[in-house]
Amino acid sequence: MIMKIIVIIPTYNEKENIEKMIPLLEKEIFPQIKNHQLGILIADDSSPDGTKNVVEKFMKEYKNLNLLEGKKAGLGAAYARAMRYAIDKLEAYAVIEFDADFQHDPHDLPRLVAAMDEGYDYVIGSRYIPGGAVPKEWGLDRKLLSKFGGLFARVVWLNFSIHDITSGFKLTKTEYLKKVDLEHLYSKAFAYKLHVLHDVVKMGAKVKEIPIIFYERKEGVSKINKKESFESMFVVLRLKFDDSIRIIKFLFVGGTGFIIQLLLQEGSARIFHVPDWLAVGVGAESAIISNFLINHFWTFNDTHSIKESSNIWVKMVKFNIASLGSIIIQVVAIWLAELVLGPNMHIFGFMLKTRIAILFPTIIFLVIPLNYIIYNKVIWKTQYLKKNLIVEENKVL
Ligand code: GDD
Ligand code: MN
Repeated sequence: MIMKIIVIIPTYNEKENIEKMIPLLEKEIFPQIKNHQLGILIADDSSPDGTKNVVEKFMKEYKNLNLLEGKKAGLGAAYARAMRYAIDKLEAYAVIEFDADFQHDPHDLPRLVAAMDEGYDYVIGSRYIPGGAVPKEWGLDRKLLSKFGGLFARVVWLNFSIHDITSGFKLTKTEYLKKVDLEHLYSKAFAYKLHVLHDVVKMGAKVKEIPIIFYERKEGVSKINKKESFESMFVVLRLKFDDSIRIIKFLFVGGTGFIIQLLLQEGSARIFHVPDWLAVGVGAESAIISNFLINHFWTFNDTHSIKESSNIWVKMVKFNIASLGSIIIQVVAIWLAELVLGPNMHIFGFMLKTRIAILFPTIIFLVIPLNYIIYNKVIWKTQYLKKNLIVEENKVL
């Protein structure tokens, strides 16, 4: 099928470059991509050098050339605006992010499109896979800075499958871009691309990296400054926090449960003088019920419409079983540890009760992670969240 692909080129004072770039794309590159309909969208921020005039001159000649003007608010702001325009007004099937200054080789464009034709949704021109390269003129500091920025995101996001996170040359199917909140990206500058990449990957887009050589700029000067690396790190962390919000709530609920258990156990024993065994039971079950309710109405409140999941009472029973499971795990772990190590342990010269020494690692490394997995997969079934989203969207399309 013939698809419409829009090459978005943000420009700020790129008169000389755009003068050469537009005819090169139109006359030499686009004709190589025979199976699709290509277009250009120049996102110019009222460049004082009159980049706009050059574009308007070419627009008389090339009908697939579009100009979107704006005030200078940063690279990310320009891209967000242009992507929205490409989706809504130009009805693009895919967009390509592309620099005006010949640092990206226009001859690489057909390979990006070919990867899309192979079935990929998000194609990254990558400098950091075999066959790719950064300018040989770059000094060690530039190279390290660029590498470090990418490494930081990969480590924080625990995503090592993408090698060039900060590449500015990529193709994205708008089917995915439509679901990105372009009007509220966490950066109006360079770091916008980290936000888009994060969201598109999270939606489950099929990603492919193809090697590109990143050249030195031909004319004019770079507009990206050093302080943007700090903003990038901040954006990376903020996105990670968003992704971790459920686990943070889950841990918090666990903490409230502990307090409730203690309060009700001691309250029923001291105020109502119920026997100890009953007080322990009352405390434990109260904590289980309150944990369940807070998790249901807060931590997992986005899962209520999942049709694959059971009703609240069945969930509550499952939750109780999971809690019982946690107790059994702790009992078994301590029993085994005492069997192997005896009732007392020596750690760094201190003597410690084995049951205490083992309790903390068991809870932290076994009980908490296991509960989190069970809550997600078995009780609230968050695995259906993403699937539901895509099925729904497809119906609309
Ligand atoms: N409209 C608009 N507004 N365009 C801008 C702005 C802006 O505020 N800032 C930069 N641009 C345009 C430039 O005119 C150029 O076409 C493109 O965006 C890239 O800007 P450069 O100033 O050349 O950036 P760079 O070479 O330092 O950064 C490049 O390398 C990064 C990877 O290291 C860019 O390609 C990035 O996208 C890339 O990620
Ligand atoms: Mn550049």
